[in-house]
Parts: sequence; C-alpha cells; structure tokens
Amino acid sequence: MRRLVYLPFQPSPAGLLCDRVNVHSIVEAVGTPAYVYSAEAIRRAYRDIDGAFAEYPHAIHYALKANSTLALLRLLRSLGSRADANSWGEIEVAQRAGFAPSDIVFTGVGKTRDELASAIAHDVGTINAESAGELDRIASIATQQGRVARVALRVNPDIDAKSHPNISTGLKSNKFGVPIQDARAIYAERRHLSGLKFVGVHIHIGSQITSAEPLARAARALVSLARELCADGVALEHVDLGGGLGIGYEGRPLLTPSDYAAAVLPELRQIGIPVVLEPGRAVVGNAGALVSRVVDVKRFPDGRQFAVLDAGMTELMRPALYGSFHRILSLAPRSGDESAWDIVGPICESSDVFARERLLPELRVDDLVAVLDTGAYGAVMASNYNRRFLAPEVLVDNDRFEIIRRRQTLDDVLALES
Ligand SMILES: Cc1ncc(COP(=O)(O)O)c(C=O)c1O
Repeated sequence: MRRLVYLPFQPSPAGLLCDRVNVHSIVEAVGTPAYVYSAEAIRRAYRDIDGAFAEYPHAIHYALKANSTLALLRLLRSLGSRADANSWGEIEVAQRAGFAPSDIVFTGVGKTRDELASAIAHDVGTINAESAGELDRIASIATQQGRVARVALRVNPDIDAKSHPNISTGLKSNKFGVPIQDARAIYAERRHLSGLKFVGVHIHIGSQITSAEPLARAARALVSLARELCADGVALEHVDLGGGLGIGYEGRPLLTPSDYAAAVLPELRQIGIPVVLEPGRAVVGNAGALVSRVVDVKRFPDGRQFAVLDAGMTELMRPALYGSFHRILSLAPRSGDESAWDIVGPICESSDVFARERLLPELRVDDLVAVLDTGAYGAVMASNYNRRFLAPEVLVDNDRFEIIRRRQTLDDVLALES
C-alpha cells in the first residue's frame, strides 16, 4: 500500500490542531505571525527517507538551507542525521547544534577564501567543490595549513529536473558545478596534489523535484562517472546525490521517498559505493505552518476581495519568489458559501501575495489563518524589509510546545547599527 504523507495540521471542533496542541494556545503565547512546526512530522519524514534507503549504505546529510533553527537541527541530529551546509555560517550553526565537523558536507557556489580556510582548519567532512579553480584554491590553502582537505567535485549533468526554473540547478545554463564531461580530466590533473584527497563526487540537479525520471538519470550519470573515476584509481568513499526530493503542497505526496529510492537504487547498486543524500524540503517542508491574522478586508467594485494578513513576503518569500502554491486554512471557518479571496501581505510590493482567487469561507478582521507546508524555505528566507521583525518559531511535540526562537525586537535589529 502506498504510504500517506503525515499531515500534522488538522482541523478539529476546538480549532486547528498541530499534533495534539491547539494552535490558538500557541497564538495566545507568541502572537502572530508565527511559525509552528511539528516534531513528529519531522521525525516521520526523516525516518521515511532513511527507511527507503535502509538496504543500501547511505548517510543523510540534512540540508540546513531549508531550515536551520537550532532546535530542529538538534532534533534531526538525535535521529541520526548529518549536515549539509552552504556557508560558513551554516557550518557554525551545525556545530552549535552538536554536529561534528566530520559529519558536515560543505556545498555552495562562490565559497570565499576565508570560508574555505575555516572549513579546512576545522576538518569538515567533505568540501563539495564547484569548479577546478576552487579545487586549486582548496589545495593551496590546505597545503599552507599543512592539512589534507577531503573533497568531492560537483558535476553538472545538463539534466532538466522538471521543477521551477528558479530552483533547477543541473542544466548547462545554470551556474552550478562543472560540465560532467570535464570531471574526469579535472580529477586526473589534481589527484596527486598533496593538499587534496578526492573522496567523492557530487550532483544536485534541483529542488522540489516531483518526478522520478530526472533523479534516476542523475543517478545514472553519477554512477557512470564514479565508475570511470574508480577505473582511474580514485578511491571514492561515497557518491553524493544531493537533495531535491519534492513534497506535495496540495496535501498528498507526489513522489515518496520509496519512489525516489526505487528510481536511484538500481543505478547505485551497480557500483555499491555508499551514497550521501542531502534532503532539505522533504524533511521539514510539510512539518510547518505560518500562522497569521487578518488585519484588513477590502472589497473592490469588480467583486475582488482581499484579506490582508499580518504576514507577508517578509515572513514567507516563496510565493513572491517562485509563485509557489501553499494551502491556506481559516482557523475560524464560517458556515455559508466559500468565495474567492486574494490573500495578501502588508508589504509595499505588488508581489506580496500568498494566493489569488482562493476559495475560502468568509474572512473577517482578526480571524486567524494558517499557511501550510511552510517548514522549508520559509523562516530561513525571512527579512527585516519594512523594518519588520522576524517571527517567532514554535516546535510542537505531541501535546506540548516550545518557543524555539522568540520574536525579534527593535533592539535586536538596531543592535547592529551606530
Ligand atoms: C547542493 C544542495 N544540496 C541540497 C539541497 C536541498 O534541496 P532540497 O531542499 O530540495 O532537498 C540544495 C537546495 O537547493 C542544494 O543546493
């Protein structure tokens, strides 16, 4: 039987529940807007991925870029996760959450010399290099430090992830990695540099991928390269498939971890080298909701009606950035016919829109709404634009909740200014 995705936010006669906590009680404690996450949803999502790959040697390096709040990282570490970091800041946060440097892969286009020097000095598990030039910089910094950096090269296979163009990364028109056909020569030319140890090869073709075919093609390309590198005498310890597993934003899974494993494992089994996975969205995306209050309602003569929320693109940028879809629930659903609402934020930008013509029950000022599936690429992308303060984050575990990040204050923001 096909496994259903666990949906932590469920309406009840008493109000919206996150697991066994009434979201209204969270709002009483922290106000709005606020991010609410379910620990159980994160556990299940992590275990689903881990379980799907159980029969093959694998390591899950949760991608911090999706959501790097300390409490979530500690939870994931307790489940056995390792970390994928995209900046020195993320590496430091991962370490504060208890991840050992050896459990961190450091990915990212445009790593600075300082970032590389720090990563090498801390013996980060693997640096996923983006270019031949970066490998040379790593080699020279490592040699200066008298160390050997463990590296993998990120390859660009020119595969269409069939996701949103802004989050596709594996096409030759994207800035990521080196053309896959150049990789073998790049390894061969640098294999004997004293500052480098080639331990892996890395690919990541995009995010929110909802069909198995591009992931299988990426795995095939990676395996074929790994085989060539092994024939050349490179002692690969792992192949890194990156992240990208998409989630259902409509309340049902589109591609499950088992579908993903079924697509890539036949390829991987041909070489038997352990695989590194870097999922972000698939671990935390469905676990979070942004809870917000209606602050104004406007009706225009053409029939258009707007509900203006106290959350906008400053809290959740995805709709403005990618036109992404999120389910929206009213926490005080009124009886009567649903009608079409434009759900918008308070920011002075016309793109500050969460949904157009969304069918919802009547909304009134002070009503609460929940924007669902915002656990990934939500809080991490928030900004202080319009001098708005970062929203608090709350972690629900069974029948309890904990404020894992308090609301930012004016003093927090102005502390950096003279
Ligand atoms: C190199 C790399 N690994 C992992 C991820 C995580 O992707 P996702 O959240 O889609 O799983 C990303 C995101 O873009 C990435 O760039």
